[in-house]
Amino acid sequence: MKKKLTGLLFFVAVLGFTGTVMAEDGAGLYKTKCLVCHGIEGRGTALAPGFKESVFINSSTDKEITDVILNGSKGTVKKFTLSMPPQKLDEAEVKSLVEYLKGLAKVD
Ligand code: HEC
Repeated sequence: MKKKLTGLLFFVAVLGFTGTVMAEDGAGLYKTKCLVCHGIEGRGTALAPGFKESVFINSSTDKEITDVILNGSKGTVKKFTLSMPPQKLDEAEVKSLVEYLKGLAKVD
Protein backbone atom coordinates (compact mmCIF):
# COMPACT_ATOMS: atom_id res chain seq x y z
CA MET A 1 0.00 0.00 0.00
CA LYS A 2 2.70 2.43 0.98
CA LYS A 3 4.64 1.58 -2.16
CA LYS A 4 1.64 2.26 -4.37
CA LEU A 5 1.10 5.63 -2.75
CA THR A 6 4.73 6.62 -3.28
CA GLY A 7 4.42 5.62 -6.92
CA LEU A 8 1.32 7.71 -7.33
CA LEU A 9 2.89 10.71 -5.66
CA PHE A 10 5.89 10.39 -7.94
CA PHE A 11 3.61 10.29 -10.97
CA VAL A 12 1.74 13.40 -9.85
CA ALA A 13 5.02 15.19 -9.18
CA VAL A 14 6.32 14.37 -12.66
CA LEU A 15 3.08 15.56 -14.27
CA GLY A 16 3.20 18.78 -12.29
CA PHE A 17 6.80 19.32 -13.21
CA THR A 18 6.42 18.84 -16.97
CA GLY A 19 3.31 21.04 -16.91
CA THR A 20 5.29 23.88 -15.39
CA VAL A 21 8.16 23.48 -17.80
CA MET A 22 5.81 23.65 -20.76
CA ALA A 23 4.02 26.77 -19.54
CA GLU A 24 7.26 28.60 -18.93
CA ASP A 25 9.24 27.37 -21.90
CA GLY A 26 10.05 30.65 -23.64
CA ALA A 27 11.96 28.95 -26.44
CA GLY A 28 9.06 26.57 -27.12
CA LEU A 29 6.50 29.37 -27.11
CA TYR A 30 8.71 31.41 -29.39
CA LYS A 31 8.85 28.55 -31.89
CA THR A 32 5.09 28.10 -32.04
CA LYS A 33 3.99 31.73 -31.83
CA CYS A 34 6.75 34.08 -32.97
CA LEU A 35 9.18 32.24 -35.22
CA VAL A 36 7.12 32.56 -38.42
CA CYS A 37 7.64 36.31 -38.42
CA HIS A 38 10.68 36.91 -36.23
CA GLY A 39 12.78 34.07 -37.61
CA ILE A 40 14.83 31.18 -36.26
CA GLU A 41 16.50 32.16 -32.97
CA GLY A 42 15.31 35.73 -33.46
CA ARG A 43 17.35 36.36 -36.58
CA GLY A 44 14.52 38.33 -38.15
CA THR A 45 12.81 37.86 -41.53
CA ALA A 46 11.43 40.09 -44.25
CA LEU A 47 8.25 40.20 -42.16
CA ALA A 48 9.53 41.32 -38.79
CA PRO A 49 12.62 42.58 -36.97
CA GLY A 50 15.09 40.20 -35.34
CA PHE A 51 16.08 40.15 -31.68
CA LYS A 52 19.82 39.52 -31.93
CA GLU A 53 21.47 42.48 -30.18
CA SER A 54 18.10 44.22 -30.47
CA VAL A 55 18.25 47.84 -29.37
CA PHE A 56 14.57 47.71 -28.46
CA ILE A 57 14.97 44.69 -26.16
CA ASN A 58 18.21 45.93 -24.63
CA SER A 59 16.89 49.43 -23.91
CA SER A 60 13.36 48.56 -22.75
CA THR A 61 11.99 47.46 -19.40
CA ASP A 62 10.27 44.09 -19.03
CA LYS A 63 6.99 45.97 -18.82
CA GLU A 64 7.59 47.77 -22.11
CA ILE A 65 8.50 44.52 -23.87
CA THR A 66 5.45 42.82 -22.34
CA ASP A 67 3.20 45.64 -23.57
CA VAL A 68 4.39 45.27 -27.15
CA ILE A 69 3.84 41.50 -27.03
CA LEU A 70 0.33 41.75 -25.55
CA ASN A 71 -0.87 44.89 -27.35
CA GLY A 72 1.03 44.60 -30.60
CA SER A 73 2.76 47.43 -32.39
CA LYS A 74 1.99 49.24 -35.58
CA GLY A 75 4.80 50.75 -37.57
CA THR A 76 7.37 51.57 -34.89
CA VAL A 77 9.99 49.79 -36.94
CA LYS A 78 9.49 51.56 -40.26
CA LYS A 79 10.87 48.86 -42.53
CA PHE A 80 7.98 46.42 -42.05
CA THR A 81 4.62 46.52 -43.76
CA LEU A 82 2.99 44.12 -41.28
CA SER A 83 2.08 45.08 -37.74
CA MET A 84 2.94 43.14 -34.65
CA PRO A 85 -0.33 41.35 -33.85
CA PRO A 86 -1.47 41.40 -30.18
CA GLN A 87 -0.77 38.02 -28.56
CA LYS A 88 -3.04 36.07 -26.22
CA LEU A 89 -0.72 34.76 -23.53
CA ASP A 90 -0.94 34.34 -19.79
CA GLU A 91 1.38 36.08 -17.38
CA ALA A 92 3.82 33.18 -16.99
CA GLU A 93 4.04 32.74 -20.75
CA VAL A 94 4.82 36.40 -21.47
CA LYS A 95 7.36 36.39 -18.67
CA SER A 96 9.20 33.40 -20.12
CA LEU A 97 9.10 34.96 -23.59
CA VAL A 98 10.54 38.25 -22.32
CA GLU A 99 13.38 36.29 -20.66
CA TYR A 100 13.95 34.36 -23.88
CA LEU A 101 14.07 37.55 -25.99
CA LYS A 102 16.49 39.15 -23.54
CA GLY A 103 18.70 36.09 -23.90
CA LEU A 104 18.65 36.43 -27.68
CA ALA A 105 19.35 40.17 -27.53
CA LYS A 106 22.28 39.90 -25.13
CA VAL A 107 25.45 41.38 -26.60
CA ASP A 108 28.36 39.04 -25.80
C1 HEC B 1 2.47 38.14 -38.00
C2 HEC B 1 3.86 38.34 -37.72
C3 HEC B 1 4.31 38.44 -36.27
C4 HEC B 1 4.18 37.52 -35.26
C5 HEC B 1 3.50 36.15 -35.32
C6 HEC B 1 4.86 38.08 -34.11
N1 HEC B 1 5.35 39.31 -34.40
FE1 HEC B 1 6.40 40.53 -33.16
N2 HEC B 1 6.50 41.97 -34.61
C7 HEC B 1 6.00 41.84 -35.91
C8 HEC B 1 6.24 43.07 -36.64
C9 HEC B 1 5.85 43.33 -38.09
C10 HEC B 1 6.91 43.95 -35.75
C11 HEC B 1 7.33 45.39 -36.02
C12 HEC B 1 6.16 46.25 -35.63
C13 HEC B 1 6.38 47.71 -35.79
O1 HEC B 1 6.96 48.13 -36.81
O2 HEC B 1 5.93 48.46 -34.90
C14 HEC B 1 7.06 43.22 -34.49
C15 HEC B 1 7.65 43.74 -33.36
C16 HEC B 1 7.88 43.04 -32.19
C17 HEC B 1 8.58 43.56 -31.05
C18 HEC B 1 9.23 44.95 -30.96
C19 HEC B 1 10.56 44.86 -31.67
C20 HEC B 1 11.23 46.19 -31.94
O3 HEC B 1 12.42 46.17 -32.32
O4 HEC B 1 10.59 47.24 -31.79
C21 HEC B 1 8.60 42.57 -30.10
C22 HEC B 1 9.23 42.65 -28.72
C23 HEC B 1 7.90 41.45 -30.66
N3 HEC B 1 7.47 41.76 -31.93
C24 HEC B 1 7.71 40.24 -30.01
C25 HEC B 1 6.99 39.17 -30.52
C26 HEC B 1 6.75 37.93 -29.80
C27 HEC B 1 7.29 37.61 -28.42
C28 HEC B 1 5.97 37.16 -30.60
C29 HEC B 1 5.41 35.80 -30.30
C30 HEC B 1 4.62 35.66 -29.09
C31 HEC B 1 5.73 37.90 -31.84
N4 HEC B 1 6.36 39.11 -31.74
C32 HEC B 1 4.97 37.44 -32.90
C33 HEC B 1 5.38 40.73 -36.42
C34 HEC B 1 5.05 39.57 -35.72
